[in-house]
Amino acid sequence: MADIVIAPSVLSADFSRLGDEVEAIDRSGADWIHLDVMDGHFVPNITFGPPVIKAIRNRTKKLFDAHLMMAPADPYLAAFADAGCDMITVHAEAGPHLDRSLQAIRGLGKKAGVSLNPATPVSAIEHVVDRLDMILVMTVNPGFGGQAFIPAMLAKILRAKALVGKRPIDIQVDGGVTAETAPAVVAAGANVLVAGSAVFRGGVESAYARNIADIRNAAMGNWT
Ligand code: DX5
Ligand code: ZN
Repeated sequence: MADIVIAPSVLSADFSRLGDEVEAIDRSGADWIHLDVMDGHFVPNITFGPPVIKAIRNRTKKLFDAHLMMAPADPYLAAFADAGCDMITVHAEAGPHLDRSLQAIRGLGKKAGVSLNPATPVSAIEHVVDRLDMILVMTVNPGFGGQAFIPAMLAKILRAKALVGKRPIDIQVDGGVTAETAPAVVAAGANVLVAGSAVFRGGVESAYARNIADIRNAAMGNWT
């Protein structure tokens, strides 16, 4: 089985201590750092942008995985690249020129991801698949942490996996991922698991390490 990547979402961190929280999840076994950028327009919530990402960049060497819930995204791609993002994921629904957005991300030397809202079919990205490093299957409607996993998305993960075939494209899931839902998403074909509330539950570093280990063990099918 491909290695499982656990990507804690800092959306559930204590924003007043964001740099320390990033260091804490780094020490606690996070593989990537998932950064939820919300614009109050594409989604009904606002979070943070490039200056905040830049400010926490020197707190960890781990991959910065930016999930841009914003429309338009294109005018800001260079700013996210400059801020230190390694993977930049745009939403398929965020604009009319997805192919151009993906070319722009790779043109900046970054890995390119595309995210699908729950109602968007995998067929929406069939013709851009060779421009992708990652497909993000949203398992909640984006905008907020702590929502319930949508079980109908398991069938979409299977379709995304079929589309990918043997290409080296990661399949990420985001929303309601916990130790309880992890086995099913991995069985369907996901290998990158984003988790916000399930990682930051407990509010202290010792809890983060336990939470990440629980999700990873569940994903790998070996409860300890
Ligand atoms: C939702 C965000 C997620 C969110 C996940 O709009 O894209 O990354 O932080 O939070 P949980 O894991 O709490 O569902
Ligand atoms: Zn996200």
